[in-house]
Amino acid sequence: MIAHSKTSALMARGSEFLGSETAILCGAMSWVSERNLVSAISNAGGFGVIACGAMTPALLDAEIAATRALTDKPFGVNLITMHPQLFELIAVCGRHAVSHVVLAGGIPPKGSVEAIREHGAKVICFAPTLALGKKLLRSGADALVIEGMEAGGHIGPVSTSVLAQEILPSLAAEHLVFVAGGIGRGEAIAGYLEMGAAGVQLGTRFACASESIAHPAFKKAFFRASARDAIASVQVDPRLPVIPVRALRNKGTEEFTAKQIEVARRLDAGEVDMGEAQLAIEHFWAGALRRAVIDGDVESGSIMAGQSVGMVTSEEPVAQIIAALMAESEAALDHRAGARSIAA
Ligand SMILES: Cc1cc2nc3c(=O)[nH]c(=O)nc-3n(C[C@H](O)[C@H](O)[C@H](O)COP(=O)(O)O)c2cc1C
Repeated sequence: MIAHSKTSALMARGSEFLGSETAILCGAMSWVSERNLVSAISNAGGFGVIACGAMTPALLDAEIAATRALTDKPFGVNLITMHPQLFELIAVCGRHAVSHVVLAGGIPPKGSVEAIREHGAKVICFAPTLALGKKLLRSGADALVIEGMEAGGHIGPVSTSVLAQEILPSLAAEHLVFVAGGIGRGEAIAGYLEMGAAGVQLGTRFACASESIAHPAFKKAFFRASARDAIASVQVDPRLPVIPVRALRNKGTEEFTAKQIEVARRLDAGEVDMGEAQLAIEHFWAGALRRAVIDGDVESGSIMAGQSVGMVTSEEPVAQIIAALMAESEAALDHRAGARSIAA
């Protein structure tokens, strides 16, 4: 990586922490981030992360073993904090001596960070605000990911650029903070590294790599889409909460809006109670990501994608994507160094 000396120097802390050549994580993507993509990312010098999603402990056990068979490089496992068997899943990671566990989907429940650390693994948590980031670090998180609303999948309300400005100046000098959301090219990586990030996490850019098992129809939808097609789901009625998800606009996203209006009407008419109404909304998307990724149902399935989707135009091997990101970052840093030397 001599050719990328400036980028590699800025990534050094992150790479050392991850045990990878570059501090580029491929964020866990349910159904997409399985053995093939995860091992390809780690083999290419990035850091792959298995998406556990709703897997049972037995399925996770098999997925970790299969990934290990495909790479001898480190990779992580992403666990959703509200999974009913979270502690069994942590034990599975422990049995396989997984080096890094990412806790996603909310504040980690009591004892979970400690349980992971007891197995000797490093814990990575998502920090939605500066105050929560500080709390997570105090509770034992080894590193943080800050993820803006440009990202694909479940999102918070704040953009990556604002989160980076709010959180990096306070925490990045002493702690490891990885930036995610909306990163499609290396110039953006250079910018966040210069702001103090230890590395970056991308999802959308890797989802349609050659090694990704996503259905050809899912990949085609990505290649055709532009940034404005990746929209956040909208909540229609304040009584019926919707956790925002960023996905490509399709028949399913339109039907979801219609469904909310219908359920709100039935609630007003007394045909359903509040619990039933909220469940109807919650269940609308059940299995929808799998339908899009695995079955190729891009009409009614959920094609989760971030706003960087417009920069994904063809199927490329993971190694080529990582090489391009590193080269773009290095060129940007060279350019800035050149500008600085002229100014001096
Ligand atoms: C198809 C898809 C599925 C995702 N599934 C998950 C998930 O299961 N768990 C999670 O923590 N993040 C999930 N994410 C978020 C990614 O891990 C990553 O943080 C995000 O994609 C980064 O932003 P970007 O999409 O702008 O690159 C998903 C993203 C996509 C595009």
